[in-house]
Amino acid sequence: MSTKTTVISPEALQQQLGFCEQIKDYWHSQTLTPLAYVETYGCQQNEADSERIRGLLIESGYAITDTAEGADVVVMNTCAIREHAELRVFGNLGALTHTKRRHPRQKIFLCGCMAGQEKVVERIKKSYPHVDGVFSTHHLWQFPEILHRVLFAGKRTYFTQDEPGSIAEGLPQQRDSKLKAWVSIMYGCNNFCTYCIVPYVRGRERSRKAEDILSECRQLIESGVKDLTLLGQNVNSYGKDLSQNIDFADLLKMIADIPGDFRIRFMTSHPRDASKKLFDTMAASPKIAKQLHLPFQSGSSRVLKAMNRHYDREAYLEKVQYAKSVMPDLVLTSDVIVGFPGETEEEFEETISLIETVRYDSLFTFIFSPRAGTPAASMDDPTTKEEKNRRFDRLCAVQNLISEDIHKGYIGKTMVCLIDGTDKDMLTARTEGGRLVRLTGDESLIGTFAPVTITGASTWSLTGEL
Ligand code: SAH
Ligand code: SF4
Ligand code: F3S
Repeated sequence: MSTKTTVISPEALQQQLGFCEQIKDYWHSQTLTPLAYVETYGCQQNEADSERIRGLLIESGYAITDTAEGADVVVMNTCAIREHAELRVFGNLGALTHTKRRHPRQKIFLCGCMAGQEKVVERIKKSYPHVDGVFSTHHLWQFPEILHRVLFAGKRTYFTQDEPGSIAEGLPQQRDSKLKAWVSIMYGCNNFCTYCIVPYVRGRERSRKAEDILSECRQLIESGVKDLTLLGQNVNSYGKDLSQNIDFADLLKMIADIPGDFRIRFMTSHPRDASKKLFDTMAASPKIAKQLHLPFQSGSSRVLKAMNRHYDREAYLEKVQYAKSVMPDLVLTSDVIVGFPGETEEEFEETISLIETVRYDSLFTFIFSPRAGTPAASMDDPTTKEEKNRRFDRLCAVQNLISEDIHKGYIGKTMVCLIDGTDKDMLTARTEGGRLVRLTGDESLIGTFAPVTITGASTWSLTGEL
């Protein structure tokens, strides 16, 4: 089998870095240090992309600021997952007319998942004339060229052609944290869950070569990073598009074998592709965090089929049971959608009973939001909004009790935590399972792993002592 994934050539990337150089020279000749502001919506994929956008901006001579006010470049890196996410972006985009009026040099860009939808691009063209450029996730690596064109040709620029997507290695990346790092191992999604927009806006699954991922991880660990999160929409199908014969469990093991004191976690796992081999690999390596985000979406097999999830309730429960049997301290989290078209009261109760059976540490709960162009958007949906809200509230109430109960169970336990920062006058730390712990202690401990005894718990966080 040959490699299907297209990797951007080093020459093409070099050309982009050439644009950065020209932009930097321009600002230099004006004896100005321009400011750039990047606002991120959505998931970790977007956060990682924003780090790349900031990297390219710094390469182009910009200093990063934390407000749109007075910024020479504003980039809105957007999310299209639910209607609410899009409405927020349109609202905030409207407000940028004022920041631009006060600072006419300001150039405004919209990118990310919303930019992958034609109807959004059309709306920006027509109704948001203050936006200077739009680029979809496929074109992120060409941002220097877009910025160059907007600055020097004064043209509104759109890089939004639909394409299967590619991989750009070696983009500069301005990482938010010195201790924790995102590592994208793959891009895109092939699953086409019937409610989801992601495959349409992020293109087909593309895996990075294992050697590229490993060399990035090695560099990060050498530079002092202690917590790596491997990213992909469905990390368990890693490598299926490559000829290297390395699956996700193999990749995890290869990363865990890098010498050093660090932890690895990953998200997101699709239950269909989560294998016993993966769980055994996690269980066998002390460096792989015993944390699993395994979205189930619904507790009803009928609804799961309508969602095109390719597993049923029983298969999901079996996998969870196996994972817990080999990792008794596993911290399990998940995503769930309430009010999928046609979900009946009984089917909703199946979701409740699944939650009660599995007992997640925490849950991300969503009310179904129709996304134009996806199959679920045109399915019959007789349930009222009020009824969906009622189900949602009930689900949250059930989960909050479970979270609280699980958190109380932590009290008295001593766990090795990564001390990762401060919040007001407390230190913050993360358990192996990714739970937040607040404690008192000296700031010199930041960046170290230390045993912490848990002394208190609430629904959302823990308190502890060294
Ligand atoms: N690739 C990940 C999910 C990414 S989107 C996975 O499959 O696990 C994050 C979550 O948003 C999904 O798990 C789902 O619960 C929710 N979501 C996606 N589309 C949605 C929609 N149209 N309405 C409501 N929630 C949605
Ligand atoms: Fe969306 Fe499904 Fe892909 Fe997750 S696996 S990104 S929910 S289509
Ligand atoms: Fe949103 Fe795109 Fe992530 S739609 S959830 S930012 S992949």
